[in-house]
Amino acid sequence: MPDPYEIDLMISAKSIAARIEDLSREIRETFKDTDKLVVVGLLRGSFVFIADLVRELDLPVEVDFLEASSYGDGMESSREVRILKDLRGAIEGRDVLLVEDIVDTGHTLKHVTALLETRKPKRLETIALLDKPSRREVDVKATWTGFEIPDEFVVGYGIDFAQRDRNLPYIGKVRFI
Ligand code: PRP
Repeated sequence: MPDPYEIDLMISAKSIAARIEDLSREIRETFKDTDKLVVVGLLRGSFVFIADLVRELDLPVEVDFLEASSYGDGMESSREVRILKDLRGAIEGRDVLLVEDIVDTGHTLKHVTALLETRKPKRLETIALLDKPSRREVDVKATWTGFEIPDEFVVGYGIDFAQRDRNLPYIGKVRFI
């Protein structure tokens, strides 16, 4: 059990929904000629975001998932990212949108996009709901970002603290008490 904490509101459900509408418009424009967009959710944190995002997209889509986990090896900058669950479908020659909940050090996004590129998609773009640029260890940026946030411990809308709070409908900030 984590130490006792409270959660302060950081980004409301309403603000998230409004931002997703805007982002969806841009994504629709970018992929307007697609025959079918493969929307790839990076488990587990992206499951809420991808659910709301695909329902706003109004494009032919299919949904697939990938699970990665990262390990520190003592040297932060050479953090190893391991694939725990791979895609079900092939993406060669396909339009692909990779969906992340948060970009922190950037290792996960960098590793996963490099992996997907080896499979020769026609076009690969990325979206992250949250970005903490001050934490970056490798040079990577999602094509679209929902909100840039400071280096705070956040939970909710898919993001956990010790596997808790993923089901909060908003993004909150953890405050230890
Ligand atoms: C979190 C988050 C991102 C990644 C970002 O996943 O969902 O995938 O870390 O961190 P990075 O930019 O430093 O690589 P986590 O490993 O906590 O798994 P989860 O999504 O299952 O909660």
